[in-house]
Amino acid sequence: MRVLGIESSCDETAVAVVRDGTAIEASLLYSQNEEHLPFGGVVPEIASRAHLVQLPRLLRELERASGSLAAIDAVAVTARPGLIGSLLVGVSAAKALAWSLGKPLVDVHHVQAHVYAAQMEHPRLAPPFVALVVSGGHTSLYLCTAPGVLEEIGSTMDDAAGEAFDKVASLLGLPYPGGPAIEGAARSGDAAREPFLAARVKGRELDFSFSGLKTAMLYRIAGQNVARKNRPAVPAERVPHLAAGFQEAVVGMLVERSLLAARQRGVAQIAVGGGVACNQRLRAVLGERAGAAGLEVFFPSLPLCLDNAAMIAGLGFHLLREGRRAPFDLDACPR
Ligand code: KG4
Ligand code: ZN
Repeated sequence: MRVLGIESSCDETAVAVVRDGTAIEASLLYSQNEEHLPFGGVVPEIASRAHLVQLPRLLRELERASGSLAAIDAVAVTARPGLIGSLLVGVSAAKALAWSLGKPLVDVHHVQAHVYAAQMEHPRLAPPFVALVVSGGHTSLYLCTAPGVLEEIGSTMDDAAGEAFDKVASLLGLPYPGGPAIEGAARSGDAAREPFLAARVKGRELDFSFSGLKTAMLYRIAGQNVARKNRPAVPAERVPHLAAGFQEAVVGMLVERSLLAARQRGVAQIAVGGGVACNQRLRAVLGERAGAAGLEVFFPSLPLCLDNAAMIAGLGFHLLREGRRAPFDLDACPR
């Protein structure tokens, strides 16, 4: 079965055709980073309008790459969670296509798809396993008991990990998106020269908190001059050490909680998904620590970590096979 996937939940416009849940025939993406760069973060109104322009263009390009859309068997679309205006563009396009082509429509949960991304490339990864989803909008730990079935067992109490990377990058004068910028700067830095301590939440050992790290960074670089207009510029030679120290604290928190979750739930496999899963330091430390603990870790390849439509079409295939269909009055939902 060939499924057309559409993803527009945040600032990436994406379409893909996937056969039988795993074989990616074509996966196309337009990243709106340029549009949002001047604002240091995603502006919802700009994101929705960009989807409106980019989605029809990508669909035409997809037809050139993968053949006529009339030959697909179903349409899968991200219907939640995300920015409501952005989601509505994708959902409306998916409905129009499914209606006009006379094909079934299925709604996909974006976070479940981030978890499925690891399963797409690693057939050995099989439920039950612990899943860590770390992106700009989400940071949670789940117990996955079947494809698309997730029980949340821990989550962030404030910012998402990617959001913390983005905000701290902005404090350090690094560009948006902050994750790759901090990772790049950290490569020539020494975390031990600017150490940060990740917060622990008493009695909530699988939960995350990142806002304290962000505040610690602000005080570290600005002292008492926290107002933006009085803040001194961070000396260039200090930026790599600050980036490395911050990255080490975030990675430490993510790794520790993931290993604890696997131990507590008695599972031997951990899957990671979301944009922050691109981080090479996270991939290295989690891989090493999990290996030492006798656990297996599965990361998607980098294009499948970031928002993409292949994971939507892939999970959509399984949902369709289970008999799930979305009605034509399908609504988008921000949560
Ligand atoms: O999954 P994604 O594309 O979109 C959301 O669903 O949010 O994730 C984007 C987030 C951004 O916050 C970005 O800074 C972060 O993922 N990110 C990274 C890296 N690459 C992207 N964070 C840390 N290290 C990276 N290499
Ligand atoms: Zn995402």
